[in-house]
Parts: sequence; structure tokens; C-alpha cells
Amino acid sequence: MANTTGMANLNLTGDDGTVPTEDEVNPWEVHASSATGVDYDKLIKRFGSSPIDSALLSKFETTLGQPPHFLLRRGIVFSHRDMDQILALHSQGKPFFLYTGRGPSSEAMHMGHVIPFLFTKWLQEAFNVPLVIQMTDDEKFLWKDISLETARSYTTENAKDIIALGFDPERTFIFSDLDYIGSSPEFYRNMCRVQKAVTFNQAKGIFGFTESDCIGKISFPAIQAAPSFSSSFPHIFNSRSDIPCLIPCAIDQDPYFRMTRDVAPRIGCPKPALLHSTFFPALQGCQTKMSASDPNSSVFLTDTPKAVKDKINKYAFSGGGATVEEHKKNGGNCDIDVSYQYLRFFLDDDQRLEKILQDYSSGELLTGYLKKELIELLQAFLKSHQEKRKAVTDEVVKQFMTPRKLKFDY
Ligand code: TRP
Repeated sequence: MANTTGMANLNLTGDDGTVPTEDEVNPWEVHASSATGVDYDKLIKRFGSSPIDSALLSKFETTLGQPPHFLLRRGIVFSHRDMDQILALHSQGKPFFLYTGRGPSSEAMHMGHVIPFLFTKWLQEAFNVPLVIQMTDDEKFLWKDISLETARSYTTENAKDIIALGFDPERTFIFSDLDYIGSSPEFYRNMCRVQKAVTFNQAKGIFGFTESDCIGKISFPAIQAAPSFSSSFPHIFNSRSDIPCLIPCAIDQDPYFRMTRDVAPRIGCPKPALLHSTFFPALQGCQTKMSASDPNSSVFLTDTPKAVKDKINKYAFSGGGATVEEHKKNGGNCDIDVSYQYLRFFLDDDQRLEKILQDYSSGELLTGYLKKELIELLQAFLKSHQEKRKAVTDEVVKQFMTPRKLKFDY
């Protein structure tokens, strides 16, 4: 069942041996068989992770003394591994750090890329912990038809967008694989340890590599694993190797970290904990996620107000009735309506969202108004983002990307 990315289906069979559905979810491809999108409950079973239930949400609330972020409350961040242990550590005053990343595949990021970073920013502020952000320009060089120089330049452009979301330079280290790995013996040593602990057969099983994949791809998972270990950043953690890690990521990245968690105890490091999010749907519908390579599937951070308006009006898949009469009679279906789904990701006002859900489902609110609400919200977000991004100079990028001590002592 190999597909164009050389990714086979076999990794989708979970620990419990359940038979895969037609949903395709792996680091290179996401495609759901149903209009409501990926069946995330089944995915939890297949991947062997745990659902984020109300008990965990209340633990969040008691640990932090504030309600969990709306992405958690709304089930967009829906699954985890060992998050209860991270909460327990935090209440005992013990340290941990956050690790997330971005594969810089093009100059322009889209709204779907922003969600995990906004969530990570909330985590960083709520827990007051260091954050490392891996820019996998090497990965994009290996998987895409781009040069090393181009991949490296995308890192800088994407880092500007990430910084513009408001990360604190005293608590955040952003690194390019292409630059950092060559200058950090400890990072490379952890890569070697992981490389030695995983066989080609295991990598094939997890990632679906084939004999004709270049050997760079086959060893890449060790590079995405290494930042999970605090010893990869001696300047931040004072060379300690025992600081636990929490990784917020979209669920498609889980194969990398299943592998990492398997290897960690064998190389004497704590297993990273994980928080998984669902995908941000493409404008065309929940069956697939936004893709930077299809301009009409996404709202880009560089889009003008007019482009946003035109794209939403023209492409955002509607769960509304075919005619106004039909819509008023039968109501709209929010489960498949892309504009409503986007509001779930971006509208922080729970009451307003609930009212939209009620009114759209009853047929009182028409698709045009729903779209207008979304367009205005996105336009305001993009206007402010584009202004903030302008203020991020090369000097600021350099500051975030210089290996250094952060404001935490170990
Ligand atoms: N492979 C990811 C991508 O293509 C980038 C990445 C690296 C990442 N490390 C990560 C994402 C950790 C989430 C968490 O986008």
C-alpha cells in the first residue's frame, strides 16, 4: 500500500492490533474517509495514546489555578502521553521543558501552522518553562526538491512568523538543524545513541521507509528525537540529562515520538510526554488538512484582507442548506462546515461560539453571516500579525537562534 511519499499503511496498526480504517495519518499525509474528518477516537486506540478527559482537564485547572486553554477545553488538543506526570512534577516544583518544531517547507506559513505555536505559547506562559523550537530544514531538503540554501532561508522566514506570535527571547531557543547540529557535540551524540538503538526493520515498521528511500530519510527520525533530551542543550540545562520534556504537536508527528519514547530508557533519559492536537482542516473540507503547496486550500499569514475574503467566500466548504429556504427549514451542519470549524480554532469567546453553533444549526444564521464573522476575525488577526512580523528584524532572529543560557537555573 505504498503511496507517493513512500509511506506504507502498516504503521497505522496500533499496539492492540486493530485493523486500520481508511483514515491515513502519518508525518507526510493526512486523509480522512469521512466528511467530518479523521476519526480521532480510533486514532487514540491505534496509536495507543490516552484521551484528554475531564479528569485531566480539572487537574490542569487545579495545577495552574486557571482554566485550561480553549483548544484543550474544546477537544482540539485531544490526546496525550504522560501529561498527568508532567502536571504532578509541576505541582512539586520540579522542572520540565517544552519542545516543538516546524518543517520549513515554504516561505509562507498558513493559519494551520500557527495553531500549535499559539498553544505552545500558552503552555510556556502558564508553566513558565524553557522552550526549544526545532526547524527541520534538513528534513525538508531530504524530502522535497529544494536546495540546502533554500531550506535554510525558509527557516529564517518561518522563524520570523513564529517569533511574531510573541515568544519571549529569554525563555525560547529556536534552532536550525543545518546550523545547530554541526556546532553541538552533545546533540550529535544523542543522535548517535538513537541511531544505534533503532534497526532499519523498526524504522520501516514505524515510518514505512522502503529500500529505495535515501539513507538520509532513514536516519532523520534520530534528528527529530534528539531535542527530547535535555542533554542536547547543555547551554540551557547546565549539561543535565534528566530534565523531562513535554512535546505539543499535531497527532501526525506521533510516530517520531513513539520511537523516541521506546529508545529513551535504553539511553538513560526520561521519556518525553506528549500533547496531541487534531488537524486544521483545508478550506475544501475536513477530509484533509491545510497544505502549503495548494494555495487555495489555505489562508496564508501573508494574505491580504481581500484575498482572505475571496478565499473564504469562494472555497470554505459549507454545511449550510442548498437554498435559503432549505437552510431555514433544516438548519446547517456545523460538524462539516469549515467556517464554523475555523471559528472553533480561533474564536476564544466560548459563549459567542456556542450562540453561533445554536443559531447556525437551527437555520436562523445563514452561511453568509457565518463566513462574515470568520473573515473579520481572520483579517484582524492577520493585520496585527503582519505588523508584528515587520518588527522582527534579522537581529531579533539571531538573538532567538544563538545558543545561550535562558533565564532558568539548573
Ligand atoms: N517534522 C515536523 C514538520 O514537518 C517538524 C518538527 C520537528 C516538529 N520537531 C518537532 C513538530 C516537534 C512538532 C514537535 O513540521
